[in-house]
Amino acid sequence: MAEHDAGTDTAPALRTDLFVDGGFRPAASGRTFPCVSPRDGRVIAEIAEGDAADVDAAVAAARAAFEDGRWRHRHPRERRAVLRRLSELVEAHREELARTESLDMGKPVSDALAVDLRVTVQTLDFFAEAVDKVYDQVAPTDARTLATITREPLGVVAAIVPWNFPLMLAAWKLAPALATGNSVVLKPAEQSPLTALRLAELAAEAGLPPGVLNVVTGFGPTAGAALGRHPGVDAVAFTGSGEVGRLLLHSAADSNLKRVALELGGKSPQIVLADAPDTETVARAVAGGIFFNQGEVCSAGSRLLVHRSRKDELLDAVVRASEAMRPGDPLDPATTMGALVERAHLDRVLGHLATAREEGAAVVTGGGRVLEETGGFYVEPTVLDAVTPDMRVAREEVFGPVLAVLPFDDEDEAVALANGTPYGLAAAVWTRDLSKAHLMARAVRAGTVWINCFDDSDVTVPFGGYGQSGFGRDKSLHALDEYTQLKTTWIRL
Ligand code: NAI
Ligand code: MG
Repeated sequence: MAEHDAGTDTAPALRTDLFVDGGFRPAASGRTFPCVSPRDGRVIAEIAEGDAADVDAAVAAARAAFEDGRWRHRHPRERRAVLRRLSELVEAHREELARTESLDMGKPVSDALAVDLRVTVQTLDFFAEAVDKVYDQVAPTDARTLATITREPLGVVAAIVPWNFPLMLAAWKLAPALATGNSVVLKPAEQSPLTALRLAELAAEAGLPPGVLNVVTGFGPTAGAALGRHPGVDAVAFTGSGEVGRLLLHSAADSNLKRVALELGGKSPQIVLADAPDTETVARAVAGGIFFNQGEVCSAGSRLLVHRSRKDELLDAVVRASEAMRPGDPLDPATTMGALVERAHLDRVLGHLATAREEGAAVVTGGGRVLEETGGFYVEPTVLDAVTPDMRVAREEVFGPVLAVLPFDDEDEAVALANGTPYGLAAAVWTRDLSKAHLMARAVRAGTVWINCFDDSDVTVPFGGYGQSGFGRDKSLHALDEYTQLKTTWIRL
C-alpha cells in the first residue's frame, strides 16, 4: 500500500491504490496520475489510474459479493451495526479526513469539518438506522390472497461523484445503497480521489465484507465511461455536469438499460422581495450562498433576483459581507474561502468573468485571480451588477464565487426570472409575508425552496432537481427508492 507525505507536519498517510475486493492494488495497467493540491499547485500523491480493466475487476468483485449474499443476506441488525461502526470510524478520523479533503480539493479545512464530515457521519448514521426500521407492505387484496410488496436491492450500483464535496456526496450515494443490500463501485473524481480510498479502508475495518464496496480511481472518459456502459452494473448514481449526465443516459440506453439517477448543476436564484427581512441578514445569506465552498456548489445561490427598491442597499451589504470571505490557505483553520479545485477550473471561471465583462456586466467587487504567488488557484468573491437575463453569466453555471445580480419590479417578473433557466435545483425566497412566501414556493420550479434562509438542510429531507438539474433524490428515506426495486409476491390462500 503506497503512502506519501502530503507535505505538512501533520499530514495523514494517503492511500493511492484502487480498492477492489477488500484490498488495495495498483491499476492493471500499472499507470498512475498525479494528484495536485489546488492550495499551491504541488503534486501530493500519485494515484492509481484505473480504466476499463479495473472496472471489470471491481464489478466482478461487487457482483460476486451480491450473488453469494455475504452482505444482503446478513441479519439487518448486523448490517446496521457495520454501518454504525463505519460512521463511528469516520467520526473518529474526522480531523484527518477533513485535512485530506481540504488538501485534495481546496476547501477550507474548517468547512470540511463543520459541513462535509458532520454531514457524512449523519448520513452514514441515518441509513444505518434505517436498515432495521423500514418495513415492507401487504397489499389490500381479497380474502383468499396474500400479496406482499417487498423492496429488493438492485445489485451492483456505480456511484460516480464529483470533487466539490467528495466524501459527503460519496456517502449520500453509498449509505442508502449499502443499507439496502447492494454492492457498490465508487468512482471518485480524478481531482479528489483521496478520501474515497480512506473511506473504503475504514469500511473494511468496520466489518464490511470484501467486494461490497470497491473504489476505482481514474478519469471520467475511461473509468467513469466504463462503468456507464458496463452490462454488469445495475444502476448509476451520478452527481456532476449535465454533459456527463447525458452521456450516462446514452450509455444506459446502449447497454443494459441500467437505472440512472442524476444530480446535475443549477443556477439557483435568491429572490429578495420588497418586504424582505433586514438587509444584513439577507446579505449574509446571499454572500454565504454563493461564496461558501468557493461557489463550487451545485445549489449555489448564483443569481440574486432583488426588488429594485432594495437593490442598492442590499448590494452594499453583500459587498461588506463578502469581505469576511477572502481566499486564503485552505489548511489554515481561520480561512473561510479556499482555492478552486484545479487550474482547468480556474481558467473556466476566469473565462466566465471575461465573457460577463464583454457582455456588459459591471464588476461591483472582486473579478479576478488572487494569491497567484502561492501557485494555488484562488479567485476573489465577485459580484456582478447590470446583468440581464440573456447574458451567459445569468444562464450558465459558473461553479465559482460569482454572483449575478438582476433587479425586478414585481413578483410575477421575479418568478419568470427564477424559472427562466433550464435548471431547477434550488431557490430561496425572502419575504415577511407568509402567504407570499408559500405562493412563491409553489410557483418556483425547484427541488428545494428555502424561505428566509439559504442552504439549510438535514439528512431527513430529500435533495435533487427539477428540469435539467436532474432526477432522483439523495438523502431521506426517499433515497431508498433509488437503490431498490419492488417485488410483488401474490399468494393464493
Ligand atoms: P464532470 O461531470 O465531468 O465530473 C463529475 C464526475 O463524472 C467525475 O467523477 C468524473 O470523473 C466523471 N466523468 C467525467 N466524464 C465521464 C464520462 N464520460 N463517463 C462517466 N463519468 C464521467 O464535471 P467536471 O468536468 O469536473 O466539471 C464541469 C462542470 O460540471 C463544473 O464546472 C460544474 O458546472 C459542473 N459540476 C457540477 C457538480 C454538481 O455538484 N452538480 C459537481 C461538479 C461539476
Ligand atoms: Mg469533466
